[in-house]
Amino acid sequence: MPILEFQNVSKVYDAVTKALTDVSFSVDEGDFVAIIGPSGSGKSTILRCINRLVDATQGTITFDGHLITPPDKSLAWEPTASLDNKTKTLVRDMLKKLKEMNTSMIGIFHDIEFMDGVCDRVYNISEGTFAV
Ligand SMILES: Nc1ncnc2c1ncn2[C@@H]1O[C@H](COP(=O)(O)OP(=O)(O)O)[C@@H](O)[C@H]1O
Ligand SMILES: [Mg+2]
Repeated sequence: MPILEFQNVSKVYDAVTKALTDVSFSVDEGDFVAIIGPSGSGKSTILRCINRLVDATQGTITFDGHLITPPDKSLAWEPTASLDNKTKTLVRDMLKKLKEMNTSMIGIFHDIEFMDGVCDRVYNISEGTFAV
């Protein structure tokens, strides 16, 4: 049984942009499969369909024999540390998307202002104690 299997996967963004059209491939145990293509050809969309940052419009994706579902929990360890602002925004958008998919998350951050409105609750810690 393949570890990862795409069956006739298509992804259409914003009703017009066809990012993937009828993509099928599988990765067997021990395989190292490379996907190569120019910018805009759909590489990142394939990965985002696997980690569920986007939902495939059509087709099925199985991983270890299970249909791929969003993660139910996530630990974010300073995911925006040392990143430029553009990349930080991408990470924040990804965390927002996970939250929309009902993922339970705990994260540690230095720049919490940047995450304003994304988290449900913020605790400030100082000298080993939660500030009140
Ligand atoms: N969030 C998005 N909304 C609309 N279109 C998108 C989005 N992400 C990617 N696209 C479009 O989907 C196509 C494939 O993009 P992408 O998967 O990022 O390609 P690659 O990683 O190979 O550069 C491109 O036309 C791109 O502009
Ligand atoms: Mg890409």
